[in-house]
Amino acid sequence: MSLLAEKHLLVGVCGGIAAYKVCDWVRHLRRAGAKVTVVMTEAAARFVSPLTFAALSARPVHTSMFGQDGAHRIPHIELARAADAVIIAPATAHTIARLAHGMADDLLSTVVLACRAPTLVFPAMNSNMFSHPATAANLRRLREYGYTIVSPESGAMACGDEGPGRLPDWRAAEHAIKGAVAPKDFAGRTLVITAGPTHEDIDPVRFLSNRSSGKMGYALAAAASQRGAAVTLVSGPVALAPPPEVETVSVRTAREMQAAVLSRFTGADAVIKAAAVSDFRPSETSGQKIKKTSCGRSLPLRENPDILHELGRRKAGAPDRAPLLIGFAAESQGHIEEGSRKLRDKNLDMIVINDILGARTGFGADTNQVTLVRRDGHRTDLDLMSKEMTAHRVLDAVAELMT
Ligand code: CTP
Repeated sequence: MSLLAEKHLLVGVCGGIAAYKVCDWVRHLRRAGAKVTVVMTEAAARFVSPLTFAALSARPVHTSMFGQDGAHRIPHIELARAADAVIIAPATAHTIARLAHGMADDLLSTVVLACRAPTLVFPAMNSNMFSHPATAANLRRLREYGYTIVSPESGAMACGDEGPGRLPDWRAAEHAIKGAVAPKDFAGRTLVITAGPTHEDIDPVRFLSNRSSGKMGYALAAAASQRGAAVTLVSGPVALAPPPEVETVSVRTAREMQAAVLSRFTGADAVIKAAAVSDFRPSETSGQKIKKTSCGRSLPLRENPDILHELGRRKAGAPDRAPLLIGFAAESQGHIEEGSRKLRDKNLDMIVINDILGARTGFGADTNQVTLVRRDGHRTDLDLMSKEMTAHRVLDAVAELMT
């Protein structure tokens, strides 16, 4: 399940060469469970056949103002009413100009004018056309009307020029589209989220770490950003791309994570610590690779700072001004008791407890099944679901605590 499941998305395709990339977006949207209806301008149909979009969306493609099935139906009103979000991609200079002036001279411009759903505009065109003052002024106007403009990427264009004007890749598009359908209950909020493991160096080659993939923390950061929060993600070493629109601070060790989190504690509305911090580090880090002939069979360790415990201690000193503190407890036995103990010991507002031994809830899985326990003892057992949807349910609970 994804945030896009069962959402009605209207994709408006204009006449630009990037129209072929939007074919792939439609596939992704359908895989995510969205119901996709495609509206094409006349020019778009010269770049990609409506049949292609009809096959990919498994629905008829609309190209004309006037319905084919009798005069009693008004297609632009029906399409406008049904949409949870409108995606215009590629948005050409021509369509952007027509929308900026409220024109309603074809089906797409008429639907957009009649629609009250969030509208995303993905400009894609030659870089000179994009940076022309007329296009810039039209885009400013669309912003004033409340449309979300998703900036194009820079790079080599189909026409041979270099510069801004390329349609963003699917990851950036997906983030923006989910942002259009997500609630905006974190608007104006600042969240600090940690993710991934830490690496504690033994020597230049080896380190102590754990199996955290960072997927849960990254899903939380993306979801919070889509819900309107300003998010800083403090991430240990992971193999994941930083979520779009999120300030990502990369750290390696527990002490680096501690410094990054403590410096952002004041001013945050919530700190969500999904990271699996190494509890110990080698007492000494060797500057040279340790040779097997020179090393003993034991590794002396020192305890790392408990970052969340320190945040809880600071919160106890100023409970009214401190952010909400949300911890994670990855347990293999006595889950609820252990999680509840950490909630109390670290002075948390909520703890998210999961079972690391479950095949679909353990490290690296794309799904999770968690129990939320609040400071007041309130407990919620969530079903097994994608980490994306788990992140949204955790954020629902955080939003409730904020109010
Ligand atoms: N945590 C932290 N700093 C540490 C260890 C843990 O901030 N040095 C945070 C984690 O990010 C998590 C919570 O504390 O949100 C619980 O982490 P966990 O590893 O489950 O608990 P520990 O306190 O380390 O206890 P134990 O390892 O004995 O289970």
